[in-house]
Amino acid sequence: MEIDSQRICIIGTGYVGLVTATCFAELGNHVIAVDKDRSKIEKLRDGVCSIYEPGLEELLQDNLKVKRLIFTDDVSYGIKGSQIIFICVGTPPLSDGGTDLSQVEGVSRVIAESINGYKLVVEKSTVPVKTAQWIKRTISLYNGNSQKIDVASNPEFLKEGSAVEDFMHPDRVVIGVESEKAKEMLLDLYKPFNCPILVTDLSTAEIIKHASNSFLAMKISFINMIADLCERTGADIKMVARGMGLDRRIGEEFLDAGIGYGGSCFPKDVKAFTRIAEELKVNFNLLKEVDDINKRRIDSFISRVKEALWVLSGKTVAVLGLSFKPNTDDIREAPSMGIVGRLLEEGARLNLYDPKATDNMKEVFPPCEGRLSYFNSPSWACSGVEAVLILTEWNEFYELDLRKLKKLMKTPIIIDGRNVFNPDDMEGLGFEYYPVGRKSVRNYY
Ligand code: UDX
Repeated sequence: MEIDSQRICIIGTGYVGLVTATCFAELGNHVIAVDKDRSKIEKLRDGVCSIYEPGLEELLQDNLKVKRLIFTDDVSYGIKGSQIIFICVGTPPLSDGGTDLSQVEGVSRVIAESINGYKLVVEKSTVPVKTAQWIKRTISLYNGNSQKIDVASNPEFLKEGSAVEDFMHPDRVVIGVESEKAKEMLLDLYKPFNCPILVTDLSTAEIIKHASNSFLAMKISFINMIADLCERTGADIKMVARGMGLDRRIGEEFLDAGIGYGGSCFPKDVKAFTRIAEELKVNFNLLKEVDDINKRRIDSFISRVKEALWVLSGKTVAVLGLSFKPNTDDIREAPSMGIVGRLLEEGARLNLYDPKATDNMKEVFPPCEGRLSYFNSPSWACSGVEAVLILTEWNEFYELDLRKLKKLMKTPIIIDGRNVFNPDDMEGLGFEYYPVGRKSVRNYY
């Protein structure tokens, strides 16, 4: 194929890489997406998405058809054939909370070996501050300063479940650069976007990413502590959150109390940012507490289940919702993992249901006769159970026929980790209902 110097190369077709590659192609760019996993590349070439993300597969297929998007496992081909290279490889957590940067380092060396002219290397994966400097040093070191390169930081702010929408309509784009050329190239790439574009130095851009995610996680841990206060005083967390959120300085979003945050970003980023602060000798214990509060949500939810059911051993409980949030099949760091594990330890029998995440969950918790079963519908999962637990606020749970559900259950107890229902309605329907930070409904003494 003819090599086009304006082509973009995306290295890593995980969550961030695949969305970035597909959306840049949709915006009219020619994109070479690279991954070392050959079987994944083959599927992607056939238009089969490796992740569930609304709208992504359609865009993938459209852009494959018009050949604006190609997939390869030949990283050198991708590097040689493009001028802007986005690093989107994984940055998994280490056991001490730090970040494993071996994939970023590996890619930097491969770039150094394949380089055939000026390249702008952009880090998109979430990385600790100063990583861009390390990428630059590594590329220069391994190619003996033979080619001029620029390094930039362009963090992603994509939410799972709305990643395509977030990419196409961002609140802001952050570009950390060191040279005028890099700035112009990235401003040109982001020209179609109608949002503030913040141009900063490299470290500032890197810190913006970790600071944003940590702040959002802090908001969630904060509202969860307020929910505990509400439970002990009879106040209502929904109204408290609304009353707080109407202050524009606070904002209404990310004030939903529940069983805590999960996913591939918040838990990891809070720990990584804590570790960075420690290394830089900055006392940021606030972040440690954010993480500790989040872990304690699982304990308080289990206590709640025991408050309703007393002894769990031998009881059959339906668990509705396994993904860490709605509209995704992702169970990484999902509260459901800890909760299901603890319920099994207590000897409960579990009926699990999730619209998308059961296959992933089965890999961690395989079905086990009489202990753990998976169901294809909430009704089947809830038949004959002694309680229903709601762990993810999927839309379909809001629409459940509660009268029918009550008839299916052995005892009408719902423990709702996501405040899906209204306590007054539940009282009217004759359920025992345990929400988070709101009035519980107890009918039996
Ligand atoms: C997050 C950031 O929002 C995104 O900008 C970043 O790029 C990646 O990390 P994501 O992990 O996809 O995105 O999910 P998000 O929608 O932010 O939710 C994270 C977790 O917080 C979920 O488990 C969710 O249930 C929980 N959450 C969110 C709450 O418990 N309460 C809230 O009010 C909001």
